[in-house]
Amino acid sequence: MTFDDQEYLSRYPFIDRVLISSEEITRRVRQLGNEISNDYKDSVPIFVCILKGAYPFLADLTRCVSVDHEVDFMAVSSYDGGTQSTGVVKIEKDLKSNITNRDCILVEDIIDTGLTINNLMELLKTRNPRSLRVAALLDKKGARKIDVPLHYTGFEIPQEFVIGYGLDYDEKYRNLPFIGIMKA
Ligand code: IMP
Repeated sequence: MTFDDQEYLSRYPFIDRVLISSEEITRRVRQLGNEISNDYKDSVPIFVCILKGAYPFLADLTRCVSVDHEVDFMAVSSYDGGTQSTGVVKIEKDLKSNITNRDCILVEDIIDTGLTINNLMELLKTRNPRSLRVAALLDKKGARKIDVPLHYTGFEIPQEFVIGYGLDYDEKYRNLPFIGIMKA
């Protein structure tokens, strides 16, 4: 844990503990960046950042990618009106890029049930990308309701609600430099 992480912990007493420190995130994101750079040597991939939660991950990841690439942004929401994810996605903000015949990497903060990313992938496949992969910082594997192929995963985590590094609780705490667990 860095001094920064410690500072935030004392400032925010509702955080129970740090699950993944900022140092661990930095190290792992660098590894993922290297892996992606090796895999896309002969291509100019488009990183598709799924807003809002994936913005810090996208910013850090792409700065560790050494091949030419583009970035674009997409915002989706589940519209069941309840608290459970149905994965039925409504596009709130669409891509500017035409992804036909392009190599796309969807950048997600966390895969929980897998329903959202699964539906989003089905939707983007209709635009005929050359390839479509997922880079997810966090994987709550135990919560999965549908099998989704994750090509790049940062960390597997338990089924607990996490905040920080883009992940929010009621739109707040995205700024925390680590992944934390709130007090129950
Ligand atoms: P899924 O369709 O269940 O996989 O939903 C994934 C989405 O749920 C993520 O993109 C997050 O926005 C949200 N989510 C899932 N788990 C958490 C969490 O622990 N903290 C904050 N947001 C979460």
